[in-house]
Parts: sequence; structure tokens; C-alpha cells
Amino acid sequence: MPKLILITLNGLEEAVVRELKLRGISNFTVSPYGMDGRVLVDVDVNFAKSLRTIERVYLLLGRCELKSLERKRFRESVRGLLREVDLESYIRGLRVISIKCYYHAGVKPKKEYEKIIAREVKRVLKDIIVSPTVGDVRLICEFPPGGDSLILGLEVSGLRPLHRRLYTVYSHPAMLNPIVAAAMILLSDVNDYSLIYDPFCGAGTIPIEAVILLSKHYRDIRILASDINPIYVKQATINATKAGIPLENMVFFIADALNPPVKEVTHIVTDPPRGRREVGISWEKIFDRLVGHLADNGRIAIILGRRVKVEDIRSRYKLEVIREINIIHGGMKAFLYILEKKQ
Ligand SMILES: C[S@@+](CC[C@H](N)C(=O)[O-])C[C@H]1O[C@@H](n2cnc3c(N)ncnc32)[C@H](O)[C@@H]1O
Repeated sequence: MPKLILITLNGLEEAVVRELKLRGISNFTVSPYGMDGRVLVDVDVNFAKSLRTIERVYLLLGRCELKSLERKRFRESVRGLLREVDLESYIRGLRVISIKCYYHAGVKPKKEYEKIIAREVKRVLKDIIVSPTVGDVRLICEFPPGGDSLILGLEVSGLRPLHRRLYTVYSHPAMLNPIVAAAMILLSDVNDYSLIYDPFCGAGTIPIEAVILLSKHYRDIRILASDINPIYVKQATINATKAGIPLENMVFFIADALNPPVKEVTHIVTDPPRGRREVGISWEKIFDRLVGHLADNGRIAIILGRRVKVEDIRSRYKLEVIREINIIHGGMKAFLYILEKKQ
């Protein structure tokens, strides 16, 4: 059986690794063939699909060297690769296939590559319709950095990307991508004694992901979540119920994050208003108020719309920056910080 490649957001590879380890998998390759946002692993497809930190999964069918990206040479390489890969055996019975190309650093995206691949697939699988957008299944073509090789895979995660969670009865207008929520929890190093708090919970993505990820592994974990808007608190509760979470595992309440009724939490994992919604609630204000509610050596995982100066955080708030990760969230730059409170 071919190996699987897990697709996550660039920058979240370490979170995928932590999730794999939490689930007992220790054999994997991070950024295979130099591709960021990818983890190569040898696990069952259903196991892979149950991971919370990934968006898609594909079967790695084959790989070839590309001597050149010039049209004729590229076509020859694709033809050679398709000859080696028994594509038909994987897609027997399906009628429509679509193609998705991913271009990594240093490779210029070109529609032409997609067209050539589509034509070559058609040569091999005469009865199949190759659609540029939708299909029964997706053929993944990756151009690793440098543009000197091509990877061919078959998506096995289905047509619904894995980050679309079925528990989202109510989606928030500024909802956090649940895989980022899961990554923030994993990267903040929670343990059995953690008391996690999300003071800007919106529709509840962070607390819900926390319970789903952790409750099997850390039975005593406790989660608090609040928002200033009572409607969001109600919606978060409904989403949590839909996710099958017993509400004794977490408490939702209405509160102003600048004056929360909590003390000595071990982890604040949160997604405050970003971009144009940020008005009046700067990161300085958030840190001013929230750090006091954090236990010593407690951690904050926070996603911000702007980069902050690590030295400022250290000197003003005595917060050590453990990790800073740049991601693209909803098409915008975002900055994920893991911070630790020093005595
Ligand atoms: C980016 S959204 C959070 C989205 C959430 N992570 C989700 O996935 O649904 C920020 C939230 O902060 C809330 N908010 C804004 N100012 C607040 C304050 N002073 N105290 C508490 N919540 C506040 C908003 O109502 C909004 O729901």
C-alpha cells in the first residue's frame, strides 16, 4: 500500500507531529521532498482522516525527476510517470477525475502544466472525464521546491476538506480554521492538570477542538470559554452539543475578556478580534489584563493579525516567546505565538 501524505497549513507541521505522537505514531517524515505543510506517514486512511490538524490526505502514487519544465520535456516526464503508476487500479468505477496542482517555493504556477497532465491522464484512462474543478476523486500533482521533480498522488480524504467540521451548526463570521485551533492547543503543551481558557471563544472552535483532541488522553483536563456576545456563547454551546461533548467537560459563560472572572488558569488559548475587528482591543490591552489571570509558568497560545516585538512582550509582560509561527489564515497573514509566563 502506498504511503500517505498529510496536507496541513505551512507552519503547522510540528502540530501534526505532536498529534501523531499523541496518537502513538512515531514513524513519519516532515516536509518530505522539501515540501512545507506536508507530512509523509504510513498509516491507515481512516486513521489519517481522523487527525484534527490536517486539511487533506493523499496516497503517494509516484514521483519522477523533471529534467526541464519546458513543455515537451514535461509531457514526456508525466507520460513516463503515468506508465509506472497503475492509475486505473485506483480509480476503477469512477467517472470524473479532477486535478489539483500545488506549487512549492521556486516553482512558478502555470495552467499549462495542469492541461498537459489532464491530457496525459486522458490518454491512459480513455473513459474518464477530466474536469478542472469537480470530480469523484482528485489527482494531486505537487511540484516540490526547485521544480526538478513531480509527485503524483490520489486524494483519499474525500470531497469535503477535513477542516470543515460537522459540528458547526453555527459558524462565526470570523471563525478560526479548526486545524489552527487544534494546532494551538497541541503547541501550547497542555497536560493532565491543565485548566484551559478561551476568553474570545466565538462559536467555540478552540474549546471544542481541545476536548475532542485531549479528553481521551488527559482525563482531568478542564476547559473554560467565554465571549462578550451572549449570542455567540449560546451558539458555541449548541456546536459543542452537536460535537457530542458532555458539557461537564467545559463551561461556557458570558464575560468581557478584559475583566474575566477566572484565576490561575494554566493555559490561555485564544483568537481575539483580528484585522478591522481589532479596534479598541489591541494585543497590549489583552496582555495587560490576561497575564494576571495566568498561573506562573502558564502558557498563552494566541493568534494575532500583526507581528509583535518579542522584546516588548518579554520586558513589559514577562512573557517568554516559546514559538512564533507565520501562517496564512483565510487568505490573510496571521501570527501565532506560544508564550510562557515567567515568575
Ligand atoms: C475572532 S472571533 C473568535 C472566533 C472563534 N475563535 C471561532 O472560531 O468561532 C473574536 C471574538 O471576540 C469577541 N470579543 C470581542 N471583544 C471582546 C471582549 N472585550 N471580551 C470578550 N469577547 C470579545 C467577539 O464577540 C468575537 O466572537
